[in-house]
Amino acid sequence: PLGFFDGRIVELDEKIVAMEDRGHQFGDGIYEATRIYNGKCFQLKRHLDRCVRSLRELKIPIVYTYEELEEIHYSLIQASGITNGFIYFQITRGTAPREHGFPKNVIPHLSMFIRPMQTKTELQAVGVKCFLTPDQRWLRCDIKSLNLLGNVLAKQAAHDAKCFEAVMYREDKNLITEGSSSNFFIVKDEVIWTHPINNLILKGITRTILLEDIIPSLNLTILEKAFSPEFAQKADEAFITSTSLEVMPVISLGGKIIGDGKPGKITQKLQRAYREKAH
Ligand code: PDD
Repeated sequence: PLGFFDGRIVELDEKIVAMEDRGHQFGDGIYEATRIYNGKCFQLKRHLDRCVRSLRELKIPIVYTYEELEEIHYSLIQASGITNGFIYFQITRGTAPREHGFPKNVIPHLSMFIRPMQTKTELQAVGVKCFLTPDQRWLRCDIKSLNLLGNVLAKQAAHDAKCFEAVMYREDKNLITEGSSSNFFIVKDEVIWTHPINNLILKGITRTILLEDIIPSLNLTILEKAFSPEFAQKADEAFITSTSLEVMPVISLGGKIIGDGKPGKITQKLQRAYREKAH
């Protein structure tokens, strides 16, 4: 593992964050997480597009070009020698005396790290159990912000229930949104369902790759429409997606077995197609 902070390569445990960094005190910033497969950043353009959108939504000045961000990614890959890994980066509004309103004349901080990561192929082969829990997050889940308390509490509740991931639903409408760090899909009568893009979910890059690149090429049917937990529990198949998990089958949801309790056929097709594209 190796880090980067405002222009230089650093050790991960180096003390570099100022007390009044707004990321530190307010969670005032955004992040991205990308995979490195065989020494290359996978789908970096899409991640950078989402990063720029998050920054615009939070009115954080954009002070890095795509070329610079790409260069920093590759300098970390080179300096660490890691060819299969995970790069995390975050941009905070900057450091200023603590006050809620935006400070004037500050420059955002960029910090990044790289760690080795391998795809969890054994787990992908058998699938995971998911916990069902109310979605307690704010109403701008489309922004990949540093504020992840709702996600953290949901994930821990899942772990406490011996589940791998928490699938969240909005209690007012009884509709599933997404996982605590993943997007959620079901398959019913050969139609693939997932929550539509709006303020209630993150537009996952893995989700986009499935919807724009893989599902059309496999001639499968996608429906971007929200559904209830009860509907999902009666689905034929279910899966979650994320940069680190890729396509991960879900074999039970809220204590109910999905389909026959094994990864579904369509899920496995998508999983294979994604792995071929990525590896
Ligand atoms: N999380 N939804 C949420 C709430 C997420 O945190 C993530 C990713 C996703 C999937 O997005 P993508 O396909 O772009 O990874 C959906 C990352 C991996 C994380 O927080 O570590």
